[in-house]
Amino acid sequence: MQRWYHVVTLVLLVSASEDFDWTKNQRTSFYYGTFPPGFSWGAGSSAYQTEGAWNIDGKGLSIWDAFAHKKGTISSNATGDSSCEGYYKFKDDVGLMKDMKLNHYRFSISWPRILPNGLKNEQINEKGLKYYDDLINMLLENKITPIVTLYHWDLPQLLQERYGGWQNSSMINYFNDFANLCFEKFGNKVKYWITFNNPWSIAVEGYETGEHAPGLKLRGIGAYKAAHNIIKAHAKVWHTYDTQWRSKQKGMVGISLTADWGEPVDSTNQRDIEAADRYMQFSLGWFASPVFYGDYPQVMKEYIGRKSGQQGLGLSRLPVFTPQEKSYVKGTCDFLGVGHFTTRYVTQRNQPSTLGDSYFTDRDLAELVDPVWPDPGSEWLYAVPWGFRRMLNFIKSQYGNPMVYVTENGVSEKIMCTDLCDHWRIHYYKDYINEMLKAVKDGVNVKGYTAWSLLDNFEWDEGYSERFGLFYVDFSSKNKPRYPKASVQYYKRIISSNGFPNQREVESWKRKSKEMCSTSNQLLAADPLIGHMELVTEIVVPTVCTLCILLSAVLLMFLLRRRF
Ligand SMILES: *[C@@H]1O[C@H](CO)[C@@H](O)[C@H](O)[C@H]1NC(C)=O
Ligand SMILES: *[C@@H]1O[C@H](CO)[C@@H](O)[C@H](O)[C@H]1NC(C)=O
Repeated sequence: MQRWYHVVTLVLLVSASEDFDWTKNQRTSFYYGTFPPGFSWGAGSSAYQTEGAWNIDGKGLSIWDAFAHKKGTISSNATGDSSCEGYYKFKDDVGLMKDMKLNHYRFSISWPRILPNGLKNEQINEKGLKYYDDLINMLLENKITPIVTLYHWDLPQLLQERYGGWQNSSMINYFNDFANLCFEKFGNKVKYWITFNNPWSIAVEGYETGEHAPGLKLRGIGAYKAAHNIIKAHAKVWHTYDTQWRSKQKGMVGISLTADWGEPVDSTNQRDIEAADRYMQFSLGWFASPVFYGDYPQVMKEYIGRKSGQQGLGLSRLPVFTPQEKSYVKGTCDFLGVGHFTTRYVTQRNQPSTLGDSYFTDRDLAELVDPVWPDPGSEWLYAVPWGFRRMLNFIKSQYGNPMVYVTENGVSEKIMCTDLCDHWRIHYYKDYINEMLKAVKDGVNVKGYTAWSLLDNFEWDEGYSERFGLFYVDFSSKNKPRYPKASVQYYKRIISSNGFPNQREVESWKRKSKEMCSTSNQLLAADPLIGHMELVTEIVVPTVCTLCILLSAVLLMFLLRRRF
């Protein structure tokens, strides 16, 4: 997940004739059809966002433990100390997945849970290994394929304190040691490995804006340096797998990149077209170009190089790969993980030099959003389904049609009360998955889809104020009970039909999901009353929620009337 800066809202006049050929007049039409046999359906999570048990059974501190414990960094001073208590409740959670008939579950391994100091030669935590071993076994017993992320942002805190984290190239070997240990311990059972989740966010939000751990603001330099080490670490781990494990374990190693789609404001204007391309190259291309072609996108080298020159720097702020590094990094991606949530319009804008150097000013562009786009949850997340299809086609044409697993796609809600009838999420999934289906028909090699996320969880700097889950988690209750939202039912239908078979059936899904969630809403409202009467807030909450549900119903009627 990421947040956005310098976003300007404008009323845009965009005519349909600007579409690519393959989307002509199809931006909003629905496509009935199914995915190829064997298409894999899943849901995702990450360690720090769900496990809790932050200091239990020998786990070391991660940069997120340290960051979240600093007051004032996270919305409402929230932490992931207990979160969903996934560490204790993984058996229940696998049960939820089984009930949904998921084909795969994407989760991450916490590096400091296994190596408390980050270093393999210092201490290996057997209890940490056992937790992941149990989880993997439980998944396999239930015929759910594990897709495992090795780095979902929780660097061991000691590596940050002692060595400066991803600013230091020694992380490459430390990460490789950790990955190698995971291949050794779990590689006979795990066949899909993701080295890094969303390195864009690690670099930009961790080392440029400081909104994420480790909270550094090394503007114009830190993000490029972190990314450089991350790309080399990814390549090293891929080579380790390739030379030491692949022949025995027969799995795959990929990387998961998250990017928005950037659409030119005026697709007849060459400068807008170039700006939108720059937007993509500075996000997706920053990492995809090295792992597919061995070097940064030409446009990044040009822009950052020129700006560095204007600042009087002798060298570009963008690090350079040596010829040996280029060939080492090139081709280190067995499959590409894709995270995608939203879209921006992009236009050319020369940044005034007073803003100082930063990743954002290096791009020379402005991001715009269309005010008619729905934005049900996080402020950056506008639902723009057609952007998903374009982004997938962009990947196909730019990187030689690689094997793609969608590793994150979903939408949050921001309403402060509980409504399990999440119609907006149903709409989001329905329309985004439908655009993915169109992309598959366009020939994009998408093999699987991962809904983000299985559970409501710790949403980074937003704490618990933004909920992405298919399942609602009652964080105020000690046992963190899970309740299915209506979208669980809907997603289940998509999975069991492997797509959208026909109009009549698809329309019946929404009705059935609605019936289901009314029951869940009642259950949720009743639980605190029955379970623990002691807290006044727990009586107030259902009352407030009843009001909210009424309000949402009115809103929904309004929306539906606008839609049809
Ligand atoms: C977060 O903690 C700081 C320091 O203790 C406090 O001043 C602030 O009010 C807290 N914020 C919230 C939303 O609780
Ligand atoms: C980078 O890490 C190494 C240990 O691997 C350490 O000796 C060195 O001082 C670190 N460099 C910086 C600039 O912190």
